[in-house]
Amino acid sequence: MPKPKIVVLTGAGMSAESGLKTFRDANGLWEGHDVMQVASPQGFAKNPELVLEFYNQRRRQLLDVSPNKGHMALAELEQGFDVSIITQNVDNLHEQAGSSRVVHLHGELFKVRSTVNENHVLDWKKDLILGDTDDHGHQLRPHIVWFGEMVPMLETAAQITQEAEILIIVGTSMQVYPAAGLIHYAPKQTPIYFVDPKPNIRSTDFDNLTVIPKTAAEGVPELVNELFNS
Ligand code: APR
Repeated sequence: MPKPKIVVLTGAGMSAESGLKTFRDANGLWEGHDVMQVASPQGFAKNPELVLEFYNQRRRQLLDVSPNKGHMALAELEQGFDVSIITQNVDNLHEQAGSSRVVHLHGELFKVRSTVNENHVLDWKKDLILGDTDDHGHQLRPHIVWFGEMVPMLETAAQITQEAEILIIVGTSMQVYPAAGLIHYAPKQTPIYFVDPKPNIRSTDFDNLTVIPKTAAEGVPELVNELFNS
């Protein structure tokens, strides 16, 4: 008997209780930085050291944080369901928690790539500086999808979402496309659960939407429990 397919779309709120800042909450990442300066190809061309240091700070912090109860609950979900995580997050907390199928829409902090070949990706956990090059001598850059760049995993994510029998959305302000548009790829009859203490979605927007106004570490384990007992 095939396990029901659950697709989980996560954003920065998923990792907030692990100690990582979100982007648009009070004191969020974008409060202290100009997005176009630190997270765009133009910014990297203009001041590569500033951009590399922005990601070095975030990569160093990632070495010190752990998955929270929300990440752990999503990993446990795999005992009874066919789970695909589609995350906007560039941390590796879903993988650390044990989730086995994670699609990173916006890249990964612990990876870097050649500035001339986006498919030449390397694992990288230390600081990245000017002069760090690939074996062809090309400067390396964070393996992050910057504003204005294509989202290579979008097609994969859309295909996965089209198969969802249950869609869970956790900790995203639903303001950045194309990620936010994935919700529309779920089949019409698919139940949607939206976990966020300040949900940025109206339950009238979708016929089968359940909004759970709780944090990831609180709301996700409760929802997982409910799904196992339903
Ligand atoms: N648990 C669950 N959700 C939370 C928590 C928490 N503990 N704390 C905050 N949130 C919610 C907020 O209410 C908000 O809806 O997480 C969401 C965070 O929204 P954003 O900061 O906009 O993050 P996100 O939606 O992931 O941003 C999407 O924007 O800047 C780009 O590439 C970046 O991937 C990012 C994308």
